[in-house]
Amino acid sequence: MSRTIVVTGGTNGLGMALARHYAERGDQVVAVGSSEEGGRRLREVVPMAQFVQSDLSSLRQTRDLVERLSDEHPVVDALVLAAFRFNPVRVETDEGIEHTFALYVLNRWLMADGLRGSLESAAAPVIINLCGAGQGGRIRWDDLQLKDRYRAIAATMQGAKAGELLGAAYASERTKYVLYNPVFVATGLHEPFGQPLRALVRMASVVFAQPVAKAVPPIAALIDHPPAEALTAWKKGKIIDLAVDRNEARRFEEAIRPMAQSASS
Ligand SMILES: NC(=O)c1ccc[n+]([C@@H]2O[C@H](COP(=O)([O-])OP(=O)(O)OC[C@H]3O[C@@H](n4cnc5c(N)ncnc54)[C@H](OP(=O)(O)O)[C@@H]3O)[C@@H](O)[C@H]2O)c1
Repeated sequence: MSRTIVVTGGTNGLGMALARHYAERGDQVVAVGSSEEGGRRLREVVPMAQFVQSDLSSLRQTRDLVERLSDEHPVVDALVLAAFRFNPVRVETDEGIEHTFALYVLNRWLMADGLRGSLESAAAPVIINLCGAGQGGRIRWDDLQLKDRYRAIAATMQGAKAGELLGAAYASERTKYVLYNPVFVATGLHEPFGQPLRALVRMASVVFAQPVAKAVPPIAALIDHPPAEALTAWKKGKIIDLAVDRNEARRFEEAIRPMAQSASS
């Protein structure tokens, strides 16, 4: 039976590889990316997928997207959260939010929360949050947007920790929440860096990273057969123990809810 798979960041790397995997199986795939270039790449590689252009670091555009997807797809079997950009220096979005926090944290919360209805209508719904789970990131409670001291790694690690907390806070009877850390996969990872770092990351990627084709099957297995537990965490195909503090998870969700909702008004 054909299913509906929504992939944010579905125009490159792991997201596009998953889009291709499911489109080739005859599923209905919606791939979201911010650039025309990504749209062209998707049309070339995965012509069967539907491309939706949206800048997901914009909370306003995210909310429009959620509304559109909810209207067009009353049933969503899987939501894959893969839109990501590494920001070597601190960047603010047009809405005045630190970019990593907007894209990696607020967007993912809004997507999961906003598509709750469509997911709950599916037979075996699952959210796959592709992230850096289990890497020991921490939340800067007094400076969530790293205004005082921005470090790209700290912003990325905080986003990964945020994913763990939002996964734990996602209360659903039916939709399983999967945190999946692919560890090091040869994708478009090098693209945000300037030279000479770009060449170095690319070289490290060629030598040490897993090819995308190898990274896809364990993720697809979790989409095809979601785990029985409400929240699980995985690293490169292996389940990991993740001790998430439920109080911290609730506190974090309460902290970001007004930020995410303020953009709508
Ligand atoms: N690759 C790894 O080794 C690795 C390791 C650990 C975790 N992960 C996680 O896996 C996920 C996928 O990583 P990847 O390496 O496959 O990424 P990638 O190749 O860099 O692709 C990123 C995707 O996100 C989209 N994107 C970026 N900014 C966006 C925006 N503002 N709005 C909408 N879409 C946007 C890009 O399209 P546009 O540029 O057109 O917007 C692209 O489709 C990420 O969440 C990452 O954190 C990856």
